[in-house]
Amino acid sequence: MKRTIRHLARVVGFGLALSAIGPFVGLPTGLSADHAVAKTKHPGKRLYMRRTCVACHGRNGKRAIQDYPNVAGQEKSYLLRQIMDIVEGKRTGGLNAQGKPRAEAMRGALVTPEGQPRITREEAKQISDWLASLEPAKPNPPKDLKPEDIAAGEKLYKKKRCQTCHGKKGDKPLKGYPYVAGQKYEYIIHQMQDIRDKKRTNGKTKTMFNFVRKLKDDEIAKIAAWLSTIDRTAK
Ligand code: HEC
Ligand code: HEC
Repeated sequence: MKRTIRHLARVVGFGLALSAIGPFVGLPTGLSADHAVAKTKHPGKRLYMRRTCVACHGRNGKRAIQDYPNVAGQEKSYLLRQIMDIVEGKRTGGLNAQGKPRAEAMRGALVTPEGQPRITREEAKQISDWLASLEPAKPNPPKDLKPEDIAAGEKLYKKKRCQTCHGKKGDKPLKGYPYVAGQKYEYIIHQMQDIRDKKRTNGKTKTMFNFVRKLKDDEIAKIAAWLSTIDRTAK
């Protein structure tokens, strides 16, 4: 599916790609990119639709496909750094089910086969401004998480002093650092493992490395269990 999206986007441009994947991402069938755009005002939203972000991160950045991250309500300057790092190939990550570095899925859609970015920094900034202004997704943890693992995850999070940078419940990060509460379970696990294993080394990941360096996979899973249940929309 992903390969088809990418191929279409390359060959015929985004308009057709969007109508082809429309049913898949929940867009009403027959709705063209331009129709979707006409209803919106924020230039960041328009770009989000046109640059195919919606295909993978979902409507309003909160209905991402597979294990891809929710991006709505994420910290503004963090968003911009990540988009640019992925486009520039500085953030790659561990391997996905297809045996490719995880961030390649996104880079493939945003960079031409000749290596030309399909998005400018200014456009990425407008998209980041818009995404940061949105309400985050409701938590959607796996149904089979064990209550005792969630409780153990909360304890580990405190013991490992994750709150120093991400806030007490992952919901009050330092400026430029990511919110981690309410993020998707699988995604949290992958990122913690990638940072621990130095497969993700972009940006400020180095500051986090010492805090995850000794964590075992089952401890990471427990922390992810807890974080994935936290509702950032509840105030
Ligand atoms: C073909 C699918 C795909 C497309 C299109 C795509 N992304 Fe992504 N995006 C991903 C994947 C997969 C990741 C996670 C990579 C990883 O696991 O390391 C990601 C990660 C991100 C992140 C980092 C999130 C975080 O919490 O660190 C941001 C921000 C982001 N994408 C924004 C965008 C924007 C904006 C666009 C459009 C300009 C876009 N993406 C287009 C698949 C996609
Ligand atoms: C010293 C500060 C610091 C500490 C402590 C820290 N982190 Fe991080 N964490 C970061 C930074 C900075 C990033 C983003 C790296 C970048 O710039 O790309 C990050 C990224 C993450 C991500 C990926 C977020 C995303 O959207 O991709 C997760 C999940 C995470 N941290 C969880 C944790 C957990 C759990 C702990 C405790 C075991 C922890 N962090 C401790 C600084 C920290």
